[in-house]
Amino acid sequence: MHVIHTPSEMHNWVYMLKKTGKRVGFVPTMGYLHKGHLELMKFARGHCDVLVLSIFVNPTQFAPGEDYGSYPRDLKRDLELAQWAGVDCLFLPEAADIYPAGYRTFVDVETLSEGLCGAFRPGHFRGVATVVAKLLNIVGPDEAFFGEKDAQQLVVIRRMVSDLQFPVKITGFPTVRESDGLAMSSRNVYLAADERERAVALSRALFHARDRICAGEVNVETVLEEMSAMLTGIDVEYVEVVDPESLERVSRLCGPVLIALAARVGKARLIDNITVDWSHPRPAESDEGSAAEGVPCL
Ligand code: PAF
Repeated sequence: MHVIHTPSEMHNWVYMLKKTGKRVGFVPTMGYLHKGHLELMKFARGHCDVLVLSIFVNPTQFAPGEDYGSYPRDLKRDLELAQWAGVDCLFLPEAADIYPAGYRTFVDVETLSEGLCGAFRPGHFRGVATVVAKLLNIVGPDEAFFGEKDAQQLVVIRRMVSDLQFPVKITGFPTVRESDGLAMSSRNVYLAADERERAVALSRALFHARDRICAGEVNVETVLEEMSAMLTGIDVEYVEVVDPESLERVSRLCGPVLIALAARVGKARLIDNITVDWSHPRPAESDEGSAAEGVPCL
């Protein structure tokens, strides 16, 4: 596996490969890789000739007081896992290479960045859109892959890529879950044993909502009330039922909806979501978790 640190070397490496007709896939991450990342990388590897993984804890997507300084990092382990997952090139830029002195340019995806997590993390999606735009420019992939757990992030990135006409295909990958349903996340490491037990209420509430909608419930308020009851004792930031593309709240359950939530459990801020189309429940979103066999023990 090739390891590259500078944007210019990264850009040139991909440029040479593309000249020989190779299809380049890209998975941007902030590291501290978990099984969800591994599944995503394996999937991406099957869709390209060459896979680039970036690890960069992006300072601009953390608000003051958030966990930028303490965000979990373990580069040695990440290197081993990336190699295991078939990554061909690991891009490890420094913050000073991405945001050199005098840096002034940011990408703001209006409206879509403002609700849901955007309401609780001002500036977060501006930081995400900016770094993803920069990484796409530096790497220049044919296809970039993102987890659907960060549903709002994926909507924001798709909009940005379309609005700014980036020549790249954006592909989402279903959330990978622990065996009890908890969505995998680097931040799960913050959970103490009792908090880990309580955190499963998030996915349970989402699965309950999905089952109620698929059984014919059309009243959003009823579904939200039942979810709130299941989340008693959890410090919920929001639970919302929105249109999966516009992210606007829906008032009636007909057609596809995104049910998204965020909550604080101990030190961890956890997010999760499920997309439900009452006429087409998605088999991939099973309660049993979708962690595949054969990944190293994490
Ligand atoms: O989802 C993440 O890990 C980050 O938000 C991303 C897309 C790598 C941008 O820093």
